[in-house]
Amino acid sequence: MEAPNYTHNYTMNRQEFSELLGVSQSLVIKWEKEGLIPNHIPWGKTHRRRYNIQHVLEARKRYRPLPKHAPQTLLFWLLKGGVGKTTLSFNLAGAFSRIGYRVLAIDLDGQSHLTTCFGIPSADQDRLNTLYNIFYGEDKDKATLQETLIKLSPTLDLIPASLDTAAIDLFLSSETTIERKLYSLKNLIDSVKGDYDYIFIDAPPNINLLNINAFIASDQLIAPMLTDFLSHHSLSLLYDTIEALKQTFKDLDVELPKIKLLANNFDIRNNICQESLGRLKTGEYAPQLLETVVSRSTVLTESAKNMQPVFTFAQNSAGARDILALTKEMIGVFAKERTDGT
Ligand SMILES: Nc1ncnc2c1ncn2[C@@H]1O[C@H](COP(=O)(O)OP(=O)(O)O)[C@@H](O)[C@H]1O
Ligand SMILES: [Mg+2]
Repeated sequence: MEAPNYTHNYTMNRQEFSELLGVSQSLVIKWEKEGLIPNHIPWGKTHRRRYNIQHVLEARKRYRPLPKHAPQTLLFWLLKGGVGKTTLSFNLAGAFSRIGYRVLAIDLDGQSHLTTCFGIPSADQDRLNTLYNIFYGEDKDKATLQETLIKLSPTLDLIPASLDTAAIDLFLSSETTIERKLYSLKNLIDSVKGDYDYIFIDAPPNINLLNINAFIASDQLIAPMLTDFLSHHSLSLLYDTIEALKQTFKDLDVELPKIKLLANNFDIRNNICQESLGRLKTGEYAPQLLETVVSRSTVLTESAKNMQPVFTFAQNSAGARDILALTKEMIGVFAKERTDGT
């Protein structure tokens, strides 16, 4: 049943499994007794049951289907490095896929940190197909999207990056049609949108043509903000950039993504963090701020280094709680926006 090469088919205990499905543990036990959750994985000496994404899908199919909705493309971007774009997109893509959503993660950064987080060692990255091969590969370097995808779990696919990804921008700049220059990524994503519920894009901190393609392809721009003394500056830079893009494209009917600000690296004992979060919460852009605050937590760094999302690496940590709370909030916010038609 399980393809042997799945590296992100996260396992969980019964409590996590039932919480994830929003049912009681006794109901899960009842399903098990009736033989309706097949092939559980015996685990360790105690033979406690563990469940993986296949079990989640099985339970979804039979009892708890996820609401159907149009796919959402989420771009993690800020014109500043080191703010948590990769860490958060890595963990959130994992968390959404574990719930049973079909997720495509796209690494747009030539530094390929997301690809590395997902467990592909740098030494192997040269041999991978990336977006470059799809867009500009010639002859034997040419690849289809399907030949580029790395299947990490039944619900999680990755388009990896390598240094080649950084070259795409040069090619885009010599394109002569708007369609190819600005819409290449959107057209590619649109061609597979039926296969996914969420598309996560981890982008580098610049504003080149490849990132502009990502803006145009995305429904939501998730901007992680460090709660430090420079957050104010990052915020104005973000909105100035969006304004500049709007001006640039005002004659082109380009739709830019909705912005969500995400407070990251918060330390409650630190006055500057508190001030900075206070400003985000009360300032002009407060309506766009997600309520969940991600605290500073070394497990986020350690889990990424170990190529695991924090909720499997350290399931009881504050970092894991933050990521799961954020996942829940984001799903709720997107659902509400859909019903409000906003
Ligand atoms: N909430 C957090 N707590 C502790 N460390 C964090 C947190 N968020 C990010 N980091 C660390 O900060 C560094 C930069 O994060 P990263 O996700 O690579 O940023 P970006 O992709 O924006 O450049 C990494 O070492 C990461 O582990
Ligand atoms: Mg990054």
